[in-house]
Amino acid sequence: MEHQSQTILTGVKPTGTLHIGNYVGAVKPAIEFANNVNENDNHIMFVADYHAVNAIKNAPLLNQLTKEIACAYLACGLNPEKSLFYKQSDIPELFELTTILMAYTPKGFMNKAHAYKAAVDKNTARNEPADAGINMGLYTYPVLMAADILAYDTDIVPVGKDQVQHVEIAADIAGSINALYEQNVLKIPKASLSETAQILPGTDGQKMSKSYNNVIPLFGTDAELKKAVMGIKTDCQDINDKKNPDDILLYHIAKGIAPDCVVQEIEAGLKNGGMGYGTIKKMLLQVLIDELAEKREKYMYYMSHFDEVEHMLARGATKARQLATPVLNRVKDVIFNR
Ligand code: TRP
Repeated sequence: MEHQSQTILTGVKPTGTLHIGNYVGAVKPAIEFANNVNENDNHIMFVADYHAVNAIKNAPLLNQLTKEIACAYLACGLNPEKSLFYKQSDIPELFELTTILMAYTPKGFMNKAHAYKAAVDKNTARNEPADAGINMGLYTYPVLMAADILAYDTDIVPVGKDQVQHVEIAADIAGSINALYEQNVLKIPKASLSETAQILPGTDGQKMSKSYNNVIPLFGTDAELKKAVMGIKTDCQDINDKKNPDDILLYHIAKGIAPDCVVQEIEAGLKNGGMGYGTIKKMLLQVLIDELAEKREKYMYYMSHFDEVEHMLARGATKARQLATPVLNRVKDVIFNR
């Protein structure tokens, strides 16, 4: 059977300066996915800056993080010739579609959505009122996300586990509109869970996260990388003790980022004893420098030539609007019987 052209879309929210946990967990798998799509397929990648506004009211910070994430994806190999690349805030059609979708979204869906529930749980744990600090943007987060997806007749949405439910909500909203009007108004999207994505522990063994202060920066200088790697927590077993690699934090971090041969070498060194933590840290540092040096250089280039990036994003936005407009018109024709 001939391969039908599919549309594959992913959004990234600018939430913080990227670390290698973001890199192995999101950036790298997303770009691998993008660069491996079929010739006839359309790939869309965008910066979800309006989703970030829900949390970030510091305008210069939001601007900086948006810039960083756009440059990071380009530096890590996103090809804007192959992937449509734009900022969500440049596509007004999305917000019109959001308003339409609102009328078809049961409020109960929002009560159950993960992003909102997590915020409520946090409040409850702190003995605060359930909805303290929660704005409507966060509450209705999945509706804008549904518009992001449905506006281009998206087939596949590659996402991490935490976003699967949001894609299912988009599919449900589209399905109920189709059922109501008894026609295929909107394409039903599917989530695709990345198999290569890894969760990386931070330098203290908790999940790597800026809020735990345990990150290894993605575009840090060699000195910053060294400082972070040398700071990875170790225990005080003797160098010659035979160790279970699974108990060793350094091994888990290496497994997330190092090539197989290096991981195996570390594994053997720990199992047999004789390989010290200092040696492993040096190996890990070298792996990071090898993997990241070139990307860091490109990143620095884009950050200091941001007008070029803005130009790419603007071109992407123009094309994205051309795709979204007929979809939006199709929906309006149906709901207003025009
Ligand atoms: N919610 C996603 C995240 O936090 C970002 C996002 C926004 C997204 N719109 C999307 C992802 C549409 C996929 C499709 O990671």
